[in-house]
Amino acid sequence: MTNWKKIRKDFPITKKGVYFQSAAMSPIPTPVFAAIVKNYRKIHQQGDVLWTEDSKKYRKLCGDIAALINTESDNVCFVQNTSTAMSLIALSFENKIKTPYNVVSTEDEFPASTIGFEYREIPMRYVPPKNSRYPIDSILEQTDGQTAAVVTSYVQYATGFRQDLQNLGKALQERGILFIVNATQAFPFYPVDIQAMHIDALTCSLHKWGMTGHVGSIFFTTPEFRERFSAPWIGWLSLDAGKYMIHTAKNAPFSVHDSARRFEFGTQNLQTILAFQDALDYLKAIGFENIRKRILELTDYLIQGLKKQGVTIVSPTDKPEERSPLVSFSLGERNKECIKRLTKESISVSPRAGFIRVSINIFNNFVDIDKLLSVLQSVL
Ligand SMILES: Cc1ncc(COP(=O)(O)O)c(C=O)c1O
Repeated sequence: MTNWKKIRKDFPITKKGVYFQSAAMSPIPTPVFAAIVKNYRKIHQQGDVLWTEDSKKYRKLCGDIAALINTESDNVCFVQNTSTAMSLIALSFENKIKTPYNVVSTEDEFPASTIGFEYREIPMRYVPPKNSRYPIDSILEQTDGQTAAVVTSYVQYATGFRQDLQNLGKALQERGILFIVNATQAFPFYPVDIQAMHIDALTCSLHKWGMTGHVGSIFFTTPEFRERFSAPWIGWLSLDAGKYMIHTAKNAPFSVHDSARRFEFGTQNLQTILAFQDALDYLKAIGFENIRKRILELTDYLIQGLKKQGVTIVSPTDKPEERSPLVSFSLGERNKECIKRLTKESISVSPRAGFIRVSINIFNNFVDIDKLLSVLQSVL
């Protein structure tokens, strides 16, 4: 049996109050924090000497992530954030697609997924939600013969709705439409299977469920995607300089990495990126299935409590496969007052899209939820 009490101790934030804002950013567990400090200490004491060794560790990490999402190591790299990854894709489309086209996304999408496409003036079609859900048929209805891609989050940031990526991906593949996924609010808690989900490009910012702070975003692309769209911009580390490592020649031919390394551009914050390996190991030791079961149990308890109090729940709650750690609800005009009262009791939640969003993490427990419900009761 998992010792959740022991896990809670890895999160000192739990001593200060009740933290329900992991969908904004998870606190870093102590073992991962120790790894970050250790990585920075190496620079403090040894400077750049270990860069080559760290770069090898980085490649191993990309390989571990690739194995977890059922793809090859060459298809995975890190970029600064999801906004960068999506803007990069949008610019690639603008550069390479020469016939009229559109991109379909959802009305609730976090702007990091969509604003880069709007900025390039790519015609965007937004699917309206149905009771906070995006049924696959509603998405397909918005597509036509000119749809180049569907861009969607795995889990929606405001409502917690979790999309059925497998069936959506299959339907898009049958129609020859690219499938671009933002897994920021889901991975690594919820599984990604690139092959089974027919994903062409995926981005996942890790400061939420990756538990490593602002470490950047995983960026996955298929070899076919890279072949078709190249890279809209590059840097010195995008180049395959062979044994020389640094391409110093000017006005001379150069070759760009075939792999996702082309998107690495230049030096990265390896000190925190490498600590994601520690975060992965930490979470793997608990077990992702175990984590999902715990989250479902705790969110069930919260949902039952909210229902008992007659609170309007915005998140889809009926089907476990549509659920996530995020539960949003609304007290209408009393939302503001409610957040104020919660903050006074050191309970932190997130105001999002006019709702109150609670996100449940592995360090939360039933007592945390009771405290929240008790404040809601007094507001009501
Ligand atoms: C679904 C989703 N995607 C992306 C982000 C963050 O985007 P970026 O990595 O560009 O800061 C957030 C929240 O901050 C989010 O909820």
